[in-house]
Order: sequence, then structure tokens, then C-alpha cells
Amino acid sequence: MRKGLFALAAVGLMATGSMAACGDDSGNSDTGSDSGSSVGKVGVILPDTKSSARWATADLKYLTDAFKAAGVEADIQNAQGDKAQFQTLADGMIASGVKVLMIVNLDSGTGKAVLDKAKQTGIATIDYDRLTLNGGADYYVSFDNVKVGELQGQGLVDCLTEKKVTNPVVSYLNGSPTDNNATLFKQGYDSVLKPKFDSKEYTKGPDTDVPDWDNAQGGTLFEQDLTSNKNIKGVLAANDGLGNAAIQVLKKNKLNGQVPVTGQDATVQGLQNILVGDQCMTVYKAIKKEADAAAGLAIALAKGEAPTTATSTVTDPESKKDVKSVLLEPQSIKFDSVKDVVADGFVTKDELCTADFAAKCTEAGIS
Ligand code: BGC
Repeated sequence: MRKGLFALAAVGLMATGSMAACGDDSGNSDTGSDSGSSVGKVGVILPDTKSSARWATADLKYLTDAFKAAGVEADIQNAQGDKAQFQTLADGMIASGVKVLMIVNLDSGTGKAVLDKAKQTGIATIDYDRLTLNGGADYYVSFDNVKVGELQGQGLVDCLTEKKVTNPVVSYLNGSPTDNNATLFKQGYDSVLKPKFDSKEYTKGPDTDVPDWDNAQGGTLFEQDLTSNKNIKGVLAANDGLGNAAIQVLKKNKLNGQVPVTGQDATVQGLQNILVGDQCMTVYKAIKKEADAAAGLAIALAKGEAPTTATSTVTDPESKKDVKSVLLEPQSIKFDSVKDVVADGFVTKDELCTADFAAKCTEAGIS
């Protein structure tokens, strides 16, 4: 039976042309087969390649490495931001006989549809990074996302204080309204900034959601915000991609470097923006740890073992049910700690310290 399923999987993969070598441009990977053993196969669906650099780079790489090291077959695909494609990929993985399905949902509705189908077939499910609301996944692996938002809020406050800006108008460039993480990030930065708005120490400016975290649309929306509020003095951008979109608009208006902008993901671009002073901070989430934790759960489940590492629980705010979880700690990064991200091996000095940034790298102690 199992052999038959693997044969089917191979045909399916070839038919869709997705038999990719690890880490190709499509953002997909197949870690090679362990067929014939009793260990099951794992399917992973990543969300897109545009909302953040992380999915096609860090997550793909670290997940691929972890499954390879364990000798467990994993089909890692990227839905390219397309909800129909997300479901098609899941259907293909379920039909190919995966024993474990790991997803980063594009929204909770389509995520739940996929999780429901998997569960009906007896497949173990893992929500990777984003909780699928009312989805009932068996496991959830992420960071403390409210803490991520608190670090962003506090980072912005510190930068405004350093720049001696009084009574700033602060605008928000939030993540996707359909991503539960964006809700949690906002909960975190609101907990720091709302008291300042309430006490009139700061003034609240535009509060703009960016659909699907689309960076290009984020730039357009921020341009409108800045046009209608010329006095914006600080930007809480929810990730590095949105931060960079805001920075490009600020540059056009010769305001970059004066108006602090936050971020998240410690992308090469975000870190370079910090080095030159256009971005105030980012949040580093050690994605290797996240990928290793999620792959560890998937590998145990693929081997038919009961995982022991998901020792926390998160309560799904819709179903009110507890989901067994692994939650990791995020870290705030500013100019002086960019070097920590390099030391951790998340970005290399070579990719970060290209000609335009070499002097700043030296100043920031990156050797
Ligand atoms: C992730 C962030 C990422 C964003 C956009 C969130 O769910 O936690 O790391 O920047 O999605 O992809």
C-alpha cells in the first residue's frame, strides 16, 4: 500500500514539475526519498515569496536541512500567495500519502479547509508560524508574537527618544488583517504605544492594514498616509519588507533617517537599512530554531512516535481549544546588535557587508 502511494507521489510530483533540487528559485524543495522504510513522508506548504524574504530563504533552507539530516522524505512547496494553489498543493500532498502536513496558512479559512481534509485522512497536522484560527491543528510552532510587537513598540519609543522627538505623530503599517500573527504583533505594539497616545505624549497617525503583507501595496498605502499626514515622525512597520516600502517613500520626501521605522525578520535588506540609519530596529526570530522545532515534531510523527517537545499550549481564540505548542523568544536588533545576527549564522558578512555597507559594517563591529 505504502509503496503504491509513494509511486503515486512520484508521478504527481513529475506531473507538476515540482521535483526540485533543494532551494531552487520556485521556493520548493524535495529532500529525497526514504521510501521503502516505515517512516512516513512529510508535506510542507509555505505561504509566498513576497510578503517577507524569509519564506524562500531561511524557512525553506532550514526545513530542508532538518529533514535531510533525519533522512525523512519531505515535499516542501510554496503556494506563491495563491489560496487556490495552496489547496491544490495540499490535495496533492494528501493524495500522495503524506503522514504529516505542516502549513503556513494564507488565511484561517483556507488553512482550516486544508487541515480538516488532512485530519479526515488521519494525517497529523502542524501550524507553522501562523495559528490557523479554529483550525484545530495538532501542533503549533512559532515565536511569542505579542512579545515581537512589544519589542517593535519599545524599539520605536527608544529611537524617538534618542532623536529627541517630542509629541510625535506615529503611524502604523500593520501586517495582513487575515494573519493572526499580525493581530498579535499589533496587540504587542499597542500595549507600548497606546498609553502614550492616551496621555497625549504621542499622537496617533494613520493605522493602516496591508492586505497579504504585500510590500508594494504597503508602499502605496504609506505614500497616501504621508501625503495626508505630512507630520508623521515615526512609523511602526510590522516587518522589514513593509519597513523598506515606507523607507523608499520617506527617501522620496528626503525624510529617511529622520523618521524612525521599525521592522521584523532581520532580513539582509532590513539589516542594511539599519546600518545606514534609515531603519530604527528589526526583530530577529531565530528561524533555524523554529524550523528545527517544527521539523522535529514532524519527524517524530512521521516515525509514528509521540512528540515530547511541545510543552506549551496556546488557546485558539476562536475555538477556545488548547493547541500543543512550541513558542520561541524573539530578539530586538539595533545598530549595535546587527553583529549578533551575523554571529548566529542567520546572515553572512558577505551578503550583508557589500561595498555600499562595508564601512558601516566595520563601525558596527561586524568582522
Ligand atoms: C511572520 C513574519 C512575516 C510575515 C509576512 C508573519 O506571519 O511571522 O515573520 O514577516 O508573516 O510574511
